[in-house]
Amino acid sequence: MRMKNKYRKPTSLRCNAGSRCSSSVLLWSLVGCLLMLHLYSYIRDQDVHSQESHLHIGRHPEILELEQFEEDSIQIPPPRKRSPRAAKRKPRKVHTSLIEEFLDESSQIRHIFFPDQKTAIDPMSDNGDETHFYYPGRIWLDTTGNPIQAHGGGILYDDRTKTYYWYGEFKDGPTYHAHKRAAARVDVIGVGCYSSKDLWTWKNEGIVLAAEENDETHDLHKLNVLERPKVIYNDKTGKYVMWMHIDDTNYTKASVGVAVSNFPTGPFTYLYSKRPHGFDSRDMTVFKDDDGIAYLLYSSEDNSELHVGPLSEDYLDVTETMRRILVGQHREAPAVFKHQGMYYMITSGCTSWAPNEALAHASESIMGPWETIGNPCIGGDKIFRHTTFFSQSTFVLPVHGIPGLFIFLADRWNPADLRDSRYVWLPLTLGGPVDQPFEYSFGFPLWSRVSIYWHKKWRLPFSWRGKE
Ligand code: GAL
Repeated sequence: MRMKNKYRKPTSLRCNAGSRCSSSVLLWSLVGCLLMLHLYSYIRDQDVHSQESHLHIGRHPEILELEQFEEDSIQIPPPRKRSPRAAKRKPRKVHTSLIEEFLDESSQIRHIFFPDQKTAIDPMSDNGDETHFYYPGRIWLDTTGNPIQAHGGGILYDDRTKTYYWYGEFKDGPTYHAHKRAAARVDVIGVGCYSSKDLWTWKNEGIVLAAEENDETHDLHKLNVLERPKVIYNDKTGKYVMWMHIDDTNYTKASVGVAVSNFPTGPFTYLYSKRPHGFDSRDMTVFKDDDGIAYLLYSSEDNSELHVGPLSEDYLDVTETMRRILVGQHREAPAVFKHQGMYYMITSGCTSWAPNEALAHASESIMGPWETIGNPCIGGDKIFRHTTFFSQSTFVLPVHGIPGLFIFLADRWNPADLRDSRYVWLPLTLGGPVDQPFEYSFGFPLWSRVSIYWHKKWRLPFSWRGKE
């Protein structure tokens, strides 16, 4: 006989009732949540719209001018007529894309990509109305009349001297290939430094970190690679700290190097190189945040992803903390900046010296997760926008005193003669909805669109020029 256990709790019935009850609680909570989400996104939308209209109303009219869409296009020229004999002797390559045309040093339209000496920007000559104009791609002379040598560079604004310092690869040597399949290179000469008060007239401050001529075991030996130097100032130690990409000829060392100086104009003392966090590191940059914490960002895992991590307090090393970002996206040439508490980054694809499409990324925290928000290039034509105006990102400089206005600094590499690589500086602004779907932010527009505007010539707003 089965005894009924009167002490047994009637679990099944209660449980059903309970689960019915908890499902309705769950349902109502869900409805509540959805309502809250709608309300939040409505408020946020209103906020963003009012912020934007405010932005436009409050925007400096000269910034609006820089945001004009400027069209430009370059056509592949028809093949030159040649005698049948000449054509037989040396068949000419037929270019199917403008990138091939760009890379061909004997192209008929080479002067469009690399305008000649006659059009050089010379801030020291009487420029009349042309003063302070940037002409992306033209030769740019320093105050002694020599082409500026600061490739893959970055700019430091030094509060103490109220001066801008532009550091970059000094590549004024012959271009060659170390072996048949190697990328074009120039032996290391060192890091060039130029100073300016107006971001247009640049005085050559010399080589602030020089190559090592004789010691083949030295990181800075001329047959190695020194690229993308960036300098930040450490408020606590009062030192200027330079981080750079250090490699061997075949790019297998894949390390970062660190150098330090008491002065922005050097000389910098080279300290050491390492693989940060034990990983390969190629294109890189450093970013100093408002709270004084600085970060290293570098392409790693064979350029398939980027890594980001804070530096030690003295900026002379990385710490143990590191996060992987843009995993599987194969990006390099990172240039980081901050606007209204949000972090932004421009990167390029990985095609050596050949230009490719830039992408913008955004994040609430520099440590990620980073969201890819699309191609920031505006104007020119499709090919201009798909090649970052035939250049590659290296740095983004905030224009002090004009919130929301930045200068995008890029290199138009000339792989046939790297010393003749040009600078492409263009205005970068923020505003408007981003044009690529979100992965992490669940659809809330936390950040704005990043826009880099093509201009054949442009200059900073009059009210800013020369202001310290
Ligand atoms: C690029 C890189 C440059 C340089 C070049 C060498 O991808 O951004 O800094 O390393 O490759 O081929």
